[in-house]
Amino acid sequence: MAKAEKSWEKRLSGSVDELAVHFVESLSFDRRLYKVDIVGSIAHAEMLAAQKLMTNAELAEIKRGLIEIGEEIAAGTFAFDVTQEDIHMAVESALIAKTGDAGRKLHTGRSRNDQVATDIRLWMRDEIEIMQTHITLLQRALVKLAEKYTDAVMPAYTHLQRAQPVSIASYLLSFVEMLARDWSRLKDCRKRLNVCPLGSGAVGGSTLPLDRTKTAELLGFADITYNSIDAVSDRDFCAEYIFCCSLIAAHLSRLAEDWILYTASEFGFIRTDDAYCTSSSMMPQKRNPDMLELIRGKTGTAYGALVAMLTIMKAQPSTYNRDLQEDKLHVFAASDNAAACLQMAEAIVSHTAFNTSKIAAGLDEGFLDATALAEYLVNRGVPFRQAHGIVGGLVAQCEKEGKQKLADLSIEQFKAACDKIHEDVYVALNPAGVCQAYKTLGSAGPTAAKAQIKYWKEKLKEQ
Ligand code: ARG
Repeated sequence: MAKAEKSWEKRLSGSVDELAVHFVESLSFDRRLYKVDIVGSIAHAEMLAAQKLMTNAELAEIKRGLIEIGEEIAAGTFAFDVTQEDIHMAVESALIAKTGDAGRKLHTGRSRNDQVATDIRLWMRDEIEIMQTHITLLQRALVKLAEKYTDAVMPAYTHLQRAQPVSIASYLLSFVEMLARDWSRLKDCRKRLNVCPLGSGAVGGSTLPLDRTKTAELLGFADITYNSIDAVSDRDFCAEYIFCCSLIAAHLSRLAEDWILYTASEFGFIRTDDAYCTSSSMMPQKRNPDMLELIRGKTGTAYGALVAMLTIMKAQPSTYNRDLQEDKLHVFAASDNAAACLQMAEAIVSHTAFNTSKIAAGLDEGFLDATALAEYLVNRGVPFRQAHGIVGGLVAQCEKEGKQKLADLSIEQFKAACDKIHEDVYVALNPAGVCQAYKTLGSAGPTAAKAQIKYWKEKLKEQ
């Protein structure tokens, strides 16, 4: 076996198995934490200097060295060495090479355990803000599209069966609501994770006079963690963040599924731009909604990451175990996945048009006005359950007589079913009229849609 010397492994014999070197390393994926790692180290050094655990001259050298290292990594000139295991050791070793004894003081009162826990929190704090911006941009695109279709009506489906007429705008705004919950869920997640574990050390804290509050303040954390044993292994925020990404994926997959159906010729409700379709290598006529299918398919990546993270956390013995190194793989995967899907969805939404004439031409199918007719009877004193039965009978009658819609029944036929029905029934019987007549707050007609669009435009401007 080969021999190697690591400054932090004097306890070991130095025997090296290449297989183990590659198995244990996280540098290949945690190098993306380099900026937050350096920011965290600078704050830690500032605190050490303020506590007289290093001199101001040493602090200055450390800062200069760390900034140089940051620039080298950004420029792609930094020589990453996999035997350094992770970004923390890679940066520290480079610092020692640059600054000697000053660099050797940086890790005073610190362990990679509290360091990595801090780094992920710092990284995630920024990432959440970026994710929230992607959400807002998609919401704006949906609101913009909704504005074009407040008065256009489409069928809403329950159980994928035609149910009630709705404004196309209301349909689009339903996704704005889901995304608003995603946005505020991320905000909650950010608030909970915004506490600083630095100073917890390996597990028990430190006998040195570290000023944890100062480090936390320098890094913009709202508070410190209060139990070092918990702090070094708490990854609740990772699971929570991946869950947030998973719900984003779930919501986008619903939009994708709808629109894949809506582009099928059986529906023909929408036309997405060619840029978001592909053709077939064999069938020349094909125009496939692959981007939407991928948004739907990538939900698997999000859910996979969530199950992986929860499984890593399950039954781990108290405090830090190397299992936790795997957390970043799944956090990064879920995060990149959600960001990519949000951006793709925004582009698709911004380049989609509804075929309103085709949708309108099909509105007489499916007795979309049946519930409104039952409510017409309720307004004339018929108990709802009885009204429901009367309308059910009328629908069956239409089907038996080959009539496509309730309005095709004669007034005599209506009166025979219920003497509370008068000539004005025909006004209540058409999907666009029903949509106009929706009265309840939050209902799916043009009046509520217009009010909601106004609300969202204001709200999303501030966000
Ligand atoms: N690369 C490790 C991780 O991501 C850093 C912490 C390692 N700590 C240790 N004591 N081996 O979790």
